Amino acid sequence: MRTRYNFDKETNRKATHSYKWNIPDNGASFTVADTDFEVASEIQQAIVNRAKQSTYGYTYVPDEYYEAYIRWWRDRYQTELKKEWFIFSTSVVASVDTIIKRLTEVGERVCLFSPNYNVFYNCISNNKRVAEEVNLTYQNHEYSIDWKKLEESLSKSKLFIHCNPHNPIGKQYSIEENEKIISLCKKYNVYLLSDEIHSDLDYNEKRYNPIIKTKEYERLILALSPGKSFNLAGLHSSVLVIPNEELRLKIEKGLQEDDVGEPSYFSIEPVIAAYTKGDEYVQEENAYIYENKKYLKEFFIKNYLNLEIIGGNATYLLWVDISHYSNDSVAFVNDFSNKYNLFLIDGKHYHESQSSFVRINIATQKKNIIHLCNCLLDYLK
Ligand SMILES: Cc1ncc(COP(=O)(O)O)c(C=O)c1O
Repeated sequence: MRTRYNFDKETNRKATHSYKWNIPDNGASFTVADTDFEVASEIQQAIVNRAKQSTYGYTYVPDEYYEAYIRWWRDRYQTELKKEWFIFSTSVVASVDTIIKRLTEVGERVCLFSPNYNVFYNCISNNKRVAEEVNLTYQNHEYSIDWKKLEESLSKSKLFIHCNPHNPIGKQYSIEENEKIISLCKKYNVYLLSDEIHSDLDYNEKRYNPIIKTKEYERLILALSPGKSFNLAGLHSSVLVIPNEELRLKIEKGLQEDDVGEPSYFSIEPVIAAYTKGDEYVQEENAYIYENKKYLKEFFIKNYLNLEIIGGNATYLLWVDISHYSNDSVAFVNDFSNKYNLFLIDGKHYHESQSSFVRINIATQKKNIIHLCNCLLDYLK
């Protein structure tokens, strides 16, 4: 099939001070959650145009920036977001940090599912709050919610951090699950921060369910960013969407006080380009990632590798059950990277309790996926 964008094109990220590719010369990295794909030409053009202007001073956020998000959400998710609900923030992590600081006190509990995105735990502990972890139940290669445990934990917590779709397990929460989460937060007056940064990465079938579409809740905060789907994380541009005015003003003040509420010179125009011209890019990117995942899955089956890929069709982060081979994912990952110079992340990093998972970032050129498969086969046979 002819495509408009070339995801096979190599990008030599070692030459770009890439955090993910700061590895030995002959190695390959499947770690940090950004992609190895060239950005859409429309976005690059917006950056070039901006760079060609000869003054790089302070910048404000124009209405077109929020209007681009609104258009994207209306067309892609049939969801109507209002302009006044938006606040700019330099990054989702900066927002998480500010929200924890402004909505909870030292020593209070912040609830979240485990395993989960590692930085959430850091934000909680760095601010001297307590992580109230609700382990997701892993059974028959699927994760489900222990509702009793969640309710018990929410009854003791001030804030719940949701990750929808979920890094690292790739779970897409259903409408019913999201509804129930909101109801429980409501019951115990718990603020609900839903980090939906991975929303656009939903391949094969569309099954991402935006929490804001589910049910009204006056303590709901939605965190969004084009960082993952358009490979723009380094530009530092994200938003919070908060329908409740009082809550919004409080968080907006917090972001300003923490000095993370102002855009950089390059935070605006590329994002407008992404959300006004990026539909086809994301569609083709999802198709490419889906093919990578399918290749891995079929390779494991064909070669009798007992590696189980978990999760739905969301995010480019593959959560792989290695329990047939090891119950020490840290040792597994270290040994594998020492032998082949290929880098993965062990599940412990995400508070996975059984030490039998690894996370593989598959947003890379197919040739890297083929190389990884061959090395895994060599290692495990
Ligand atoms: C769930 C989740 N939230 C936030 C981030 C980071 O977002 P930002 O770069 O905007 O801080 C990541 C990156 O991996 C992520 O997976």
